[in-house]
Amino acid sequence: MSTMLCTKMELNPLKRTPPLPPGPRGLPILGYLPFLGNNLLHKFGDLAGQYGPIYKFYLGSQLCVVINSPSLVKEVVRDQDSIFANRDSNIATLAATYDGNDIGFSPLNSQWRAMRQIFVREVLGNNSLQASYDLRKDEVRKAIRDVYTNIGKPVHFGELSFRTELNVIMNMMWGGVVEEEEGQRLGEEFREVVIKIVDLMGKPNVADYLPALAWLDIQGIKKEVEGHMQSMDRIFEYVVAKCRKMLGGIKKEGKKNFLQVMLELQEKEDSEMSISPRQIKALLLDIVIAGTDTTATTIEWAMAELLQNRKAMENIQNELSKVVGLNNEVEEFHMPKLKYLEAVIKETMRLHPAIPLLIPRSPTQTSTIGGYTIPKKSMVLINLPWIQRDPSSWDSPLEFKPERFLHDNKKCQFSGNNFNYIPFGSGRRICAGMPLAERMLMYLLASLLHSFEWKLPDGETIDMSYTFGAVLRKSTPLLAIATPRLSEPNLYG
Ligand code: HEM
Repeated sequence: MSTMLCTKMELNPLKRTPPLPPGPRGLPILGYLPFLGNNLLHKFGDLAGQYGPIYKFYLGSQLCVVINSPSLVKEVVRDQDSIFANRDSNIATLAATYDGNDIGFSPLNSQWRAMRQIFVREVLGNNSLQASYDLRKDEVRKAIRDVYTNIGKPVHFGELSFRTELNVIMNMMWGGVVEEEEGQRLGEEFREVVIKIVDLMGKPNVADYLPALAWLDIQGIKKEVEGHMQSMDRIFEYVVAKCRKMLGGIKKEGKKNFLQVMLELQEKEDSEMSISPRQIKALLLDIVIAGTDTTATTIEWAMAELLQNRKAMENIQNELSKVVGLNNEVEEFHMPKLKYLEAVIKETMRLHPAIPLLIPRSPTQTSTIGGYTIPKKSMVLINLPWIQRDPSSWDSPLEFKPERFLHDNKKCQFSGNNFNYIPFGSGRRICAGMPLAERMLMYLLASLLHSFEWKLPDGETIDMSYTFGAVLRKSTPLLAIATPRLSEPNLYG
């Protein structure tokens, strides 16, 4: 017994703090910052090939850790989720989220928990999603009409899906509150501001990595975001005031927009579900920022894949003919039967995850992952393009094969439990908008593919290269030409 104790005590000095993960050396002060160019994700892949399942680098003084294997993803998002589900906002996101009063960029605290609960249960609950269906439908029908009236002309597919998804979101947020003409004017203004804010949030900001220089705001990013936020705030204040005035009227129509749901919660003074005016604005912005570009870019990638995989396109259209019928328009209730379409969307999100590094996490305390020390406040990134194309988990990983999702139930889930496939993230921070995202992706893509045949303009080929800012976008916009597919012209009316 005493020998055992002695051995243990002698071993204790060996229990030293594990080392930091391996990784490339950068320049003094700037670290790896100058090496990150446009092909950031390729670079992350090269480093994964060189250093293995986990590596680190410095951006200025910020330590970044990249996770490249499903088993280490599990350690981060499941085994130590209570530590790693924290976020540390950068300067632009703080300015754009009413100082982290939103869900996506808030640190892990009781306010985040309450907001997320309100969002998931009340705003995106089944009843609320059901009650906002007509608002989605109006906008999808408008997009179909728009393509129909421009038949024969090349459609800028990314722009079409972005505009439609933003209109869908705006209509769900505050549809019915302003008159149509005023709504269009506000919509245009809103669209411009959102695009600018999202772009700024995706730009690497030197001030984030060299805090000593942050006060200089060298690139002027903070100032620019704050300027756009003033315009955004004006729009929000105006719509909220209008909505408050006519709450009763909207209720009677049977349609219920999200703003109305939130304002009703605000009136519940005693409830845990109560929400402040500032939080309402931050939530509205979260919905737009998290929900628009992500869905639009996924639809554009899906269409790009389908235009070069004609067999998959044929399979979807056959399924649509069978389930919906060429004498009918697509409705959301058709979705559960569109299994091949669902598989196409899943395969698209495997190859082209809209948020390829997830939203960065930042541990609340120093911890150990894969046998390496991860200091408190490091920036932890999950390398989805590497993990979701790993040949040890996926057959012919670079090929677009929706069939792989048709029969394998385990791979079929978006729930974040299969750590080889987490396009919506995983753990406490998993995408809070998943039920709406799935509906929007399926419904818009189904409607466009059911209503029209699509082909590339003569002589065009598809460039599948990407750029990565806030989301993973195609570098070259996809142009496609539509011809009507349905039997009756009034189905486009
Ligand atoms: C194709 C569509 C979408 C994709 C691929 C996507 C993906 C993601 C990912 C990867 C995250 C980070 C998860 C993590 O860190 O583990 C996230 C977070 C989030 N998403 Fe989505 N998303 C989509 C659509 C939406 C929509 C439509 C909404 C809302 C209407 C939404 C709202 C949010 C929010 C609020 C968060 C932050 C959650 C938190 O930090 O607690 N997303 N999303």
